[in-house]
Order: sequence, then C-alpha cells, then structure tokens
Amino acid sequence: MPNNLLITNAKIVTPTGFSARKGSEMGKLKIFSKGYVEIEDGRIVQVGEAPYPKSNPGFNHLDAGGKCLLPGFVDSHTHFVFGGERSEEFSWRLKGESYMSIMQKGGGIASTVRVTRNETADSLIAKATVFLFSMSRMGITTVEGKSGYGLDKETEIRQLEVMRHLSEAKDRLVDVVPTFLGAHAVPKEFEGRADDYIDYIITEVLHEIESRKLAEFCDVFCEKGVFTVPQSRKLLLAAKKHGLQPKLHADEIVDTDGAALAAEVGAISADHLLQASDEGLRMMAEQNVVATLLPLTAFALKEPYPRARFMINEGMAVALATDLNPGSCFSGSVPLTIALACIYMGMTIEEVITALTLNGAAALNRADAIGSIEVGKKADIIMLNSDNYHILPYYVGMNCVQMTIKDGRIVSQNS
Ligand code: NIG
Ligand code: FE
Repeated sequence: MPNNLLITNAKIVTPTGFSARKGSEMGKLKIFSKGYVEIEDGRIVQVGEAPYPKSNPGFNHLDAGGKCLLPGFVDSHTHFVFGGERSEEFSWRLKGESYMSIMQKGGGIASTVRVTRNETADSLIAKATVFLFSMSRMGITTVEGKSGYGLDKETEIRQLEVMRHLSEAKDRLVDVVPTFLGAHAVPKEFEGRADDYIDYIITEVLHEIESRKLAEFCDVFCEKGVFTVPQSRKLLLAAKKHGLQPKLHADEIVDTDGAALAAEVGAISADHLLQASDEGLRMMAEQNVVATLLPLTAFALKEPYPRARFMINEGMAVALATDLNPGSCFSGSVPLTIALACIYMGMTIEEVITALTLNGAAALNRADAIGSIEVGKKADIIMLNSDNYHILPYYVGMNCVQMTIKDGRIVSQNS
C-alpha cells in the first residue's frame, strides 16, 4: 500500500523554510486553522486551508477532528545505542559525587564501554529498538545516535553498524542518523596518552567509516580532563577530510572555548554550551553553527541551564534535544525537555517547536527534507491530543502526542 494520505480538519502549526531559523525567526510559526495535508508516496504534496480537496481513490483519509498537527520531532543529540546501565553511579551522584569525579575514577563513560564491548550487535539492536518505540510515541520521527561506547575500532564500528541496521529497517518508526563519537573518552589502552588515541582514530578508524559511509558526523567530547581544544581541532579537521561534518560536546562542564572551536572548524552544531562564553557564542552565531541545547542533562546533573535567551537574542539558531545516554542523562523525555526549556530557559513555546523540528533537522543537515509541514518534505507529522499547541509545556513531563505519522504512515497511537 503506497503511503498516500489526506489529512483534513487539522490545526497545522509549523515553522517554515528549508534551513535553520535564527534569532527572532524562531518564534514565527505558520498556522492553518482549518488545514489539510495531502501526502503522496510518503511526501507532502499539498498543504492548505479549507475547502479541502477530494480524497482520491487509493488515498487513506484522516479527519484530525480539529487537533494540532506539528512536524515530527527531531532529536538531534542522543547516545541511544549502548550496553548496561549506571544506576549505581547515579546514586553516588545523589550523595554528592560529581559526574567528572566518577569519570576520573574509571567509572562514567568507561563503565558503559566495558559492557558495550561485550555486547553483540543483535543485543544492542534489541535494546536500541525499545528506545525507538518510546521515541515514536513521544513524536520523534528522526533521531541522531552517537557511537562512543567502544573506544576501539571494532566496537565503535559495531555501534555504527547497529544504527545503520536500524536506519535501513523497512517500515521503521524513526529515521536514525549516525554520528561517530570515537573521541568520547580516552580508553584504558591509551591511559594518559590522549594525543596517541586521537592519532589512532585518525589513522586507523576514520578511513573505514568513510569508505563504508557509516557516519555523517564526527563528534568529540571537548572538555577539561577529556579532550583539549587542540586535540579536538586535530580530529575534527581530519574527519572533515574524510567527509564527516564536525559536531562538538562543547563547554558542558567547564568553558574551554569549545564554542569558538566549533565556529573555527565550521561545525554543523555545538552541543550543551552550559558554560559557553558570550564571545564563543557570538562566533558561533557568525558562522551559523546551530546551538543544540540539552536541558535534561543540565537538570539531571544539577548544572545551570544553557542561556537560550541570550543565544536567540544574539541571532543564533537554537535546537533542543534529549541527550538520552546511560550516564549524565538517562532520559529521552521530549515532554520534559519542552517544559524545562519553557520554564527554566525562557524560551517561548513557538521557539521550542522550531528548536525541536526545523532547527533539529538543520543540526543534522536535513532542513531541506524534514522539520516542517511543507510541500516537498517527508510526511513526518504528529498530532497532539488538543487543538491548542500551548499544552506542550503545560503537560510537564507528560505526553500530549496522540499520533505519530512517519513517511505518511500512522506508526504510533496513544489512546
Ligand atoms: O552528552 N558528555 C559526554 N557525553 C554524554 C554523557 C555520556 C555518558 O555519561 O555516558 C553527554 O552528557
Ligand atoms: Fe551527549
């Protein structure tokens, strides 16, 4: 059955455009109060206001009952492929230990690496699939996933192969975009030799990722005590030569000028930015680097929230994502992300919608194909359980997505 669908009687709420929305543009949404969307072969071919076109034979028809349609959410920063869990470390954090001190003692990322190295691809696929189901129910139609729990060639590639498998699954619920994060931490084999580990990635790993097209982006945990700015620069410039676009975990715990490095290397996004300086952010704004903000991580680590208001006022494109991972933030809650962004980061509901759709798409180099309900884009669309999109942050941590449509097919429904 081709994915042909006519949706009528819908309140359509969407950002518009085929690139990131910056600054004050983030708050501008297009609204059709009695709207319709015509979908042919999984793509949007018409969007408009009543009167509705007739449903052609071979088209399914969905009466939205006046409820809101939004573009599917794009979760542009996660680490959802991993083995094990770290609840014990979480309880240490509750007693006052810090994320970095646990990492320095050989826990943190390294403890997930120990487990993930022993997981088969099938087992990683099974666990990741559980996350994809829950993402789809929250309205996510595209997710980025990072490697970074292997820190050796074999396991890093296995994680990327798992994401490839998930991204090629027929009738998949969520599109999966792979990022290589080999520089997530220094593995025990290279203890005290971070420079040598960066050289190992450059000389031994990047070539295979490029030749097998296993990733689109190369990320690095640029942080005090992990990888320095010069090490990150060296890796990202080499990755670019191998066709991978740079991304950074930047200025998450300490300001190390990661934001400035993102601007310098032409990163597509710099993520976290809790401690980023005004100057670094302005450099990012000038170079059109998307600022991907991850409020759930700030919440879970009890760190200050990133300065979304400052960034938007400076004309930046802000995206929001969950950062779902086993350590700093074991949450993929889109509803809570939305509430935190509105309540604690001063973002408007309209800006949050843009940040979770079109700007998330831009952070994944896909703003031409997803992120808005517009002719030519994929029919990745969600329906809320209300005709009023203001319920999004009002539902604090609760899901108000009633239906998720992926490539024109209804893939998830919440009663
Ligand atoms: O985005 N900061 C580095 N990476 C992840 C955490 C990964 C982990 O703790 O397993 C983050 O916070
Ligand atoms: Fe992360």
